[in-house]
Amino acid sequence: MSTDPTDRYRRLASDLSEILISTEQIEKRVIELGNAISQDYAGKTPILVGVLKGVLIFMADLLRAISIPLEVDFMAVTSYSSETRARGVVRLIKDLEIPISGREVLFVEDVVDTGLTLNYLLHTLRSQHPASLEVCVLFNKSKHRLIDIPLKYKGFDLPDRFVVGYGLDYREHYRNLPFVALLKPEIFQSGK
Ligand code: IMP
Ligand code: MG
Repeated sequence: MSTDPTDRYRRLASDLSEILISTEQIEKRVIELGNAISQDYAGKTPILVGVLKGVLIFMADLLRAISIPLEVDFMAVTSYSSETRARGVVRLIKDLEIPISGREVLFVEDVVDTGLTLNYLLHTLRSQHPASLEVCVLFNKSKHRLIDIPLKYKGFDLPDRFVVGYGLDYREHYRNLPFVALLKPEIFQSGK
């Protein structure tokens, strides 16, 4: 039996140039993050807040790696431009359902690049007066960071490359890949 991780995803795999982070690496790191969060929030019941849709897979795995009571809620935003790189100008299209005033809030993000999106959303949350507000991000790209935001929990530092998989998309595709990969340059050129 083949052990090539892309074998099951043949139609998607033909668009990929390289796997950057394997399924096993992600699994291990997510467990470590879950353990750290469980320890730090011992005795508390945090609300994990995520932004759809990129955080979907990370959130599902992170939740199960945390062993203390918690609640989870989601926001949804839409970028004004459909550009590959969002510019931080977002419109809230789904707000939280759980009131966060006085609660321990852990904001969970898939990827931070310029930090503009994260900054905007943290500002929105802060105005609702949580007891605490921390950030857990799986993928950190720091090359183009415009706003310095303390990331209490961080999964991986990534090079300045556009990645897909494990929830991250390019034009809504590739979210279902269980690893993180680079796309072939012609995929961007073809506008696929
Ligand atoms: P920022 O506002 O520049 O930090 O960008 C954040 C948003 O851009 C993320 O929430 C993602 O939706 C998107 N993004 C940034 N880098 C990538 C990537 O490499 N792959 C997929 N989406 C990305
Ligand atoms: Mg996205």
